[in-house]
Amino acid sequence: MKFLAATGNLHKIEEFRNILEPLGIEFVSPNEIGGIPDVEENGTTFEENASLKALETANFAKMKVFADDSGLEIEDLDNAPGIYSARYAEDNPGRIKRVLDELLEVEKKRGKIKRKARFVCVIAIAEPGKVLQVFRGEVYGTIIREPRGVGGFGYDPIFLPNGFEQTFSELTPEQKDSISHRGNALQKAVDYFIVKV
Ligand code: IMP
Repeated sequence: MKFLAATGNLHKIEEFRNILEPLGIEFVSPNEIGGIPDVEENGTTFEENASLKALETANFAKMKVFADDSGLEIEDLDNAPGIYSARYAEDNPGRIKRVLDELLEVEKKRGKIKRKARFVCVIAIAEPGKVLQVFRGEVYGTIIREPRGVGGFGYDPIFLPNGFEQTFSELTPEQKDSISHRGNALQKAVDYFIVKV
């Protein structure tokens, strides 16, 4: 079975391949078919955005597509940045600063807060004309006060997963993938394909 991975992020494609190729599932990158159009993510949930991306890309490429949408939800910020995680500021340091500043503001108003958060990843699989399946993965943790670590990307330096002393940035990529929202959603895809293939 062959899928187009609807992402320009090579790390994500690598992770899809590592986990699903042993099951006989192949991935084609957008470059290999001459690129894919940007899909406007105008849904209100991760599920809607991942499904939109998968379906529109499948209609364009006339093949089966694997798409994901992910982000960080912080309880004390009413689940912001959520589906706006990538658009919360211009760059990663800016996004981290905005989240930490907003948490300080809430803390000033309410006193002690819990700083609980979760990363969410939703993977949608589609063929032209139809979304076939949607998988949701989550990982829970807390937002620390100062960024720590150099690995990973995005909000990794401020996310301390439950049960760990290291932030996502301080864990090795293998350690992160084994507990992450994306790893978790991919594992659900594996379970689905084991039954199906
Ligand atoms: P997208 O799913 O590629 O649209 O990414 C959503 C945004 O959520 C990213 O740009 C990051 O800011 C954030 N994000 C998603 N997954 C992670 C993660 O594993 N670590 C850190 N930030 C993440």
